Amino acid sequence: MFDLVRNGSGGRATVSLDGDTDRTGLRDKRVLVTGGTRGLGEQIVRLLSAEGVRVGTCARTARGLETLAASVGPALFTRRLDVTAPGELEGFVEDAAELFGGLDGVVACTGGSRGGGFEEADAEDWAATWAVNVGHATRLVRAAVPHLRAAGGGSVVVISSISGWKPGPPAQYSVAKSAQIQLAASLARELGPDGIRVNAVSPGSMLIPGRRWDRMRREEPEAFARFVAAELPGGAPVAPQEVARVVAFLLSDWSSGISGAHLPVDRAQNAPSPDGY
Ligand SMILES: NC(=O)c1ccc[n+]([C@@H]2O[C@H](COP(=O)([O-])OP(=O)(O)OC[C@H]3O[C@@H](n4cnc5c(N)ncnc54)[C@H](OP(=O)(O)O)[C@@H]3O)[C@@H](O)[C@H]2O)c1
Repeated sequence: MFDLVRNGSGGRATVSLDGDTDRTGLRDKRVLVTGGTRGLGEQIVRLLSAEGVRVGTCARTARGLETLAASVGPALFTRRLDVTAPGELEGFVEDAAELFGGLDGVVACTGGSRGGGFEEADAEDWAATWAVNVGHATRLVRAAVPHLRAAGGGSVVVISSISGWKPGPPAQYSVAKSAQIQLAASLARELGPDGIRVNAVSPGSMLIPGRRWDRMRREEPEAFARFVAAELPGGAPVAPQEVARVVAFLLSDWSSGISGAHLPVDRAQNAPSPDGY
């Protein structure tokens, strides 16, 4: 007999591996993912939904949410909102928790960078980049904590970046992503007594259709090939589906022993940018 403590806390039922049929450790979970209409967030939403998790997601564009909901199915809860707008994210968390009868996990996936290089980016660019990465992640967790605590514990995943731990421009982005790693580690200690686990995941450069690396691959194939040869020892960028599987694991009971960790999913990528070091 080998028992795992559910949700990393002492507060809920144990899961026995003897004869247990919960293949993924995700059974009956209720999870919110910000920014689920494209890229990594979309892959997390699709994977969790396919595993029977109750999922809620948000984005600014109604069309993206409608398209996603049409293919994922009616169980998906969606809300059009800007994660940086005061109160909107908090309302989404409250409404989802009411609809689902509680929450077991949240993923702060929305992120990005505003402004150019160091001498072009102004104070507003720095503040906006901070708000969409660190600010939104912090507010998401804050709104979710009472619900996770009420469920006897839960799992928080903060999506950082290779740029959060391997330096590279733009600085406003790498500084914010670096702060997300520290945020996860700090919250893991503070929320641990409530059975709430908090981890950061740092994807390497991902090929997202229509986004930076995909555009480079199509529009500048030689420069892209040089980037791959110089910076990607695995010979290819990591796929968002690969990162989504790691996130799903961290949300599951099978990762009950992991909290305060930072997990790079970058297949040993060197520099985060094609300029190298
Ligand atoms: N792409 C990469 O190579 C890479 C590498 C390392 C780390 N990351 C990190 O991974 C995460 C996901 O990146 P991605 O490239 O997969 O995402 P993406 O393709 O840029 O998609 C972002 C998602 O977030 C939503 N979103 C953006 N801003 C929002 C806002 N203010 N409020 C609400 N929703 C918002 C978007 O929908 P709407 O536009 O409709 O709002 C979309 O659903 C980010 O944290 C990013 O920093 C990305």
